[in-house]
Amino acid sequence: MSSEIISESSTVKPPKIIEFDNAWVKIGRTVILRDISFYMRKGEILGVIGASGSGKTTALRVMTAQLKPFKGTAHIAGFDVSNEGTAIHYATGYVPQHENQSLYFPFSALENAVFFGKMYDLPTSEIKHRASTLLSLLGFDDELMNKPVRVLSGGERKRVSICVGLVHQPPILLLDEPSTGLDAHLRHELLNYLRELNVRFGTSMVLVSHDLEVVEYCTRAVIFEKGRVSLMGHPHELIRSLTGGGEALQVTFDRLTRDIIRKVGEVPFVKRTIRSGRGSLKLFVDNPRQSIPGLLRALQQQNLTPLEVSIVDANFYDFFRTKSWKEPQ
Ligand SMILES: Nc1ncnc2c1ncn2[C@@H]1O[C@H](COP(=O)(O)OP(=O)(O)OP(=O)(O)O)[C@@H](O)[C@H]1O
Ligand SMILES: [Mg+2]
Repeated sequence: MSSEIISESSTVKPPKIIEFDNAWVKIGRTVILRDISFYMRKGEILGVIGASGSGKTTALRVMTAQLKPFKGTAHIAGFDVSNEGTAIHYATGYVPQHENQSLYFPFSALENAVFFGKMYDLPTSEIKHRASTLLSLLGFDDELMNKPVRVLSGGERKRVSICVGLVHQPPILLLDEPSTGLDAHLRHELLNYLRELNVRFGTSMVLVSHDLEVVEYCTRAVIFEKGRVSLMGHPHELIRSLTGGGEALQVTFDRLTRDIIRKVGEVPFVKRTIRSGRGSLKLFVDNPRQSIPGLLRALQQQNLTPLEVSIVDANFYDFFRTKSWKEPQ
């Protein structure tokens, strides 16, 4: 599978702060990442999206210089992961998937920040000042900052972990599955906090996730498939790359049967069909707006009478479900 970089429309281009260039990465003798190329510009939130086992965490471990490419290169904040690991350690904050990898549970949020901040040679008073500013921004009051992490909720622990990752004020924050295991409300709250940190401090962020919801919060997304990058671009540009240019036809019946789904799928100009709720199908066609009369005629010939046919926007879920992006020539 070759990769495609959907072109950037913006003319103002901050420098690339993360850049993988034809990088190949092994763990032991096994090649895990194959010929990976992607980048993120300063100030961006990059979503690294892909199925389980596609290589997301491995790529994140390269970004923290724990793993090095055996072929190709990876640069983080301008430093080469192959020989500038110490500089990368200072330039990045890392929020692992599980808090027990990043926090001491008997310690409070502030004590955790002090403990880890000292690894960056920061004075205690400065760490406390930074941590309480960050924790306030993350919705903590004084009481919560001083409770042992052990008694905090999952969402609160995640925010402490983010604070610890940011206490040395790195330009880049790397988060592995930050929203996994949180309920829908907390997931959105956390992602909103991250966006606020991104705006307030200009921190560039990498959000590793298999959750497509995360993409809504990203300025760029890179899609991993089986150890390769299959696509990279602005989420809206990716959606616009679908058949139909970001729009689809939605056709609704009073009841959907297999027979109806098959017949609709057989309409010659319908490229993809996906279910989109009770009684509805989303159809991906080349010119959705011009295709309504033709679709109605085709359905009539099949003795199908829809309740409604309308134009709807495609979204990132459709992007994955249809996989109908145009393969590069
Ligand atoms: N230490 C290791 N030794 C051998 N293989 C490994 C090791 N770590 C990861 N792998 C393999 O590398 C591939 C990519 O793993 P990785 O953890 O990067 O995937 P992922 O996209 O983060 O998946 P998930 O969504 O489940 O976290 C998998 O096939 C995995 O089995
Ligand atoms: Mg992972």
